[in-house]
Amino acid sequence: MRRHRIALLPGDGIGTEVCRAARVTLEAIPDPDLSFEFTELPMGLVALESEGDPLPQSTIDQARAADAVLHGATDASSIAPGIRPPLSGLRRELGCFASVRPSVSIPGVDAVHTDVDLVVIRELTEGTYSKIEFEIQDAVCTVRVTSRAATQRVARLALEYARTRRRHVTVVHKRAGVPRGDSFWLEVIADVAVEFGDVTVRTANVDAVAHDLVRAPQEFDVILAENLNGDILSDVAAAVTGGLPLAASACIGAQWAYFEPVHGSAPTIAGLGKANPAGTMLASAMLLEHIGETGAADRLRRAVKLALADPSARTADLGGSASTDEFTAAVVGALCEPL
Ligand code: IPM
Ligand code: MN
Repeated sequence: MRRHRIALLPGDGIGTEVCRAARVTLEAIPDPDLSFEFTELPMGLVALESEGDPLPQSTIDQARAADAVLHGATDASSIAPGIRPPLSGLRRELGCFASVRPSVSIPGVDAVHTDVDLVVIRELTEGTYSKIEFEIQDAVCTVRVTSRAATQRVARLALEYARTRRRHVTVVHKRAGVPRGDSFWLEVIADVAVEFGDVTVRTANVDAVAHDLVRAPQEFDVILAENLNGDILSDVAAAVTGGLPLAASACIGAQWAYFEPVHGSAPTIAGLGKANPAGTMLASAMLLEHIGETGAADRLRRAVKLALADPSARTADLGGSASTDEFTAAVVGALCEPL
């Protein structure tokens, strides 16, 4: 029996609904030797109200002790300035240094492009999001940090990831605008790439990459970017392949990792049973892969694609009229179909 302990951090808004739906599908994977033990942990506004902290220490401790962590969505906008944003806190506490965001076309889903298979790998600890900011006279300075250690470890992860794919990495920069920082970023990555002679590495300006992601995303395999650039480019990539509700992401650290949909807590539709849980289910497939359950991951991914291919199973964001539960039932049905 393979039993995995999963920490579920549903968070706020539709986070609760999409996590519940993902859990139902994980439990429905037809493998008698596979089982899960779920522990729900509070995070976000819910935790702020019940425990006075949007990321309680007990949530961090239990997430670290679990075999894998699934996060729904957290409403950062309603958390007062001065309180640490829970999502950044979770990333830091779990030592996550890279975010892996695949954008893969799904047959039948209407999108700008329908034959895309790329992944954006984003440095997660520094860059423009170093959070080192200070005032000088009447100006605010934001420090964009590029350290050798953080650049090397994310470069290594991206190059290794490329080996499992088409062995092509596009390194994003804007050297004309950030001359010292981005020269260093490119040099450090080039040094790491020497160890990966079997992977083709090219560099490209961030604006050109944004343009080409819209024009011809098929040209990309792995895109490696600094924190802010990667944040923006991963949304662009998601938009051309079917939109945020389908986008999944992994936040990877040396010791821990967690998985989540890319979308937010969508307070306007929270509790209405309308949310699309596909992104969270695809994030759960990434989670399964991470814990070595590649067969189960493939099954879940295949079932989500089969359900999405049926217009009557789709939720409103994809032009359908199915509820979260109806879509979930379609995925469970597809999981039970013989391979
Ligand atoms: C994301 C989000 C977050 C980020 C925000 C909510 C802090 O945009 O996961 O892409 O910038 O990392
Ligand atoms: Mn983002």
